[in-house]
Amino acid sequence: MSNSLFRKKSLTTILNDPSEPVDGHSSPELKKILGVRDLTSMGIAAVIGAGIFSTIGQAAFDGGPGVIFLFLITAVTCGFTALCYAEFASRVPVAGSAYTYSYVTFGEITAWVIGWALILEYGIGNVVVSISWSSYFVNLLEGVGMHLPTWLATDPYTAEDVYKAAVKAGSPTDGLAWTTAPLFAGYRIICNIPAFVIIILITILAFIGIRESRSSANFMVGLKLVVLAFIVGIGIFYIDTDNWTPFLPNGFTGVLKGVSAVFFAYIGFDAVSTTAEECANPQRDLPRGMIYSLIICTIIYVVVTLVITGMVNYSEFDGVADPLAYVFERINQGKIGFFISASAVVAATSVLLVFQIGQPRIWMSMSRDGLMPKRFGKIHPKFQTPGFSTVMTGVIVAIPSLFVGSALMTDLTSIGTLFAFAIVCGGVLMLPRREKTNGRFNLPYINGQWVVPVLFIIFLYSFRERVMGSVTNLTHEAHQEILFLIFLLITAVITVFSFLRKLSLIPVLGLLCCCYLMIEIPVFSWKVFFGWMAFGLAIYFSYGYWKSKLANKAKA
Ligand code: ALA
Repeated sequence: MSNSLFRKKSLTTILNDPSEPVDGHSSPELKKILGVRDLTSMGIAAVIGAGIFSTIGQAAFDGGPGVIFLFLITAVTCGFTALCYAEFASRVPVAGSAYTYSYVTFGEITAWVIGWALILEYGIGNVVVSISWSSYFVNLLEGVGMHLPTWLATDPYTAEDVYKAAVKAGSPTDGLAWTTAPLFAGYRIICNIPAFVIIILITILAFIGIRESRSSANFMVGLKLVVLAFIVGIGIFYIDTDNWTPFLPNGFTGVLKGVSAVFFAYIGFDAVSTTAEECANPQRDLPRGMIYSLIICTIIYVVVTLVITGMVNYSEFDGVADPLAYVFERINQGKIGFFISASAVVAATSVLLVFQIGQPRIWMSMSRDGLMPKRFGKIHPKFQTPGFSTVMTGVIVAIPSLFVGSALMTDLTSIGTLFAFAIVCGGVLMLPRREKTNGRFNLPYINGQWVVPVLFIIFLYSFRERVMGSVTNLTHEAHQEILFLIFLLITAVITVFSFLRKLSLIPVLGLLCCCYLMIEIPVFSWKVFFGWMAFGLAIYFSYGYWKSKLANKAKA
């Protein structure tokens, strides 16, 4: 059984057998037109969205202006991962995804697990983006004098939290979603209609074959960049440098609370790797596109965060879902806030579209490999899109977007994506070393034999208090410290392997950074993540394990 769990797709088969498409983009009709500029633009299109326009509010509240350090750490982590994606893209120049890469390196069960985790990145990620979209859309409506009842534009959990906070603070509660919601059979009817509707509309677009063309991606990116430049250009005059003191009001612990929010803001650059077959020169241009978009987004994020935490004291961002519009309302520039809300809606729409198109393609690949029912891989005869998968994606995103709050969903998206990233970095370590090839991207080999152990020692020294504390507080500090100890164990093992096998430094650092960011995500979200994975494995063992194409080939 263990052999069959790790059955692998062969690289040669993937490259030589065009009848065995491995990803949704594997169409002979796709034109190879994308260059570095387009890829960079696409990266920015998929990255800048709900993260900077919404979830950053809470991260700034927890970490203060010092949350910029988290942006930098996360950028470095994503940079290592992007290089590993690039190495795979250069070796497997078919439309790539972490799912396909892990099928080649680790085998079937890991590929399934990654495919399942990617639902968190694309599907659940879109739940978060749709909630953010809704929040900015409601602002827009208010701006033109239309008022949507609050109980129709939020989820019950957030509504209850807001109500409790108001009661605690002695603020008036009339007009809140919790107090105005109609009752049905003893339950308050509270749901996020705009989030639901936008997902349905985007699903329809994805179904009838709308694709982000090069020019529309460039247009959306242009708009986002202009708006963010505008925010910085105006906001800079309203900065009160006193707001930057203290820079780290809650220490580094406060900063780390924002891990999933900040990481969420970077998710999407990997979507660029799925366009390998539309690139003129994927081996050369994909890595550049990913790295350039990461650098540009990092600069934007750091500058925007500095500006907004300079305009308004970090302590005001608690629970603020539209921080960029909020800072302008606070300085009585509501009109600018309106303009920002309009742009946030466009920015979030582009992310929704990219992800809502990406998810069905992953299911389609899995279905073609026999791991999911054939219907998931069927192409609609008229629209030439994976129709059933697209509708299913719409359902699994639209329903939760009606009722769930964004915090847990953001955590799940971040864990799922970090998990996939970690596997991609690990996968590169499993690839045989190759000679440097001209005209292609080659992941630079830096021998980690000594560097990794030295870095590990420096890490242990810098975190010595936490290391000691995690052991002594194990029983009474929830379970977060168990995750930290597991991280130390994994790092120790990888350090030993790096020393013995002279492992390549970049994937090792990518892998360890991803693991580190993961363990900073709250334990509760981990439990839900494990539940999700267990559910996925149950499906694999009752279906994919038996129906897999590789299994049938082996039998034949
Ligand atoms: N990075 C994407 C966003 O922030 C998911 O919306």
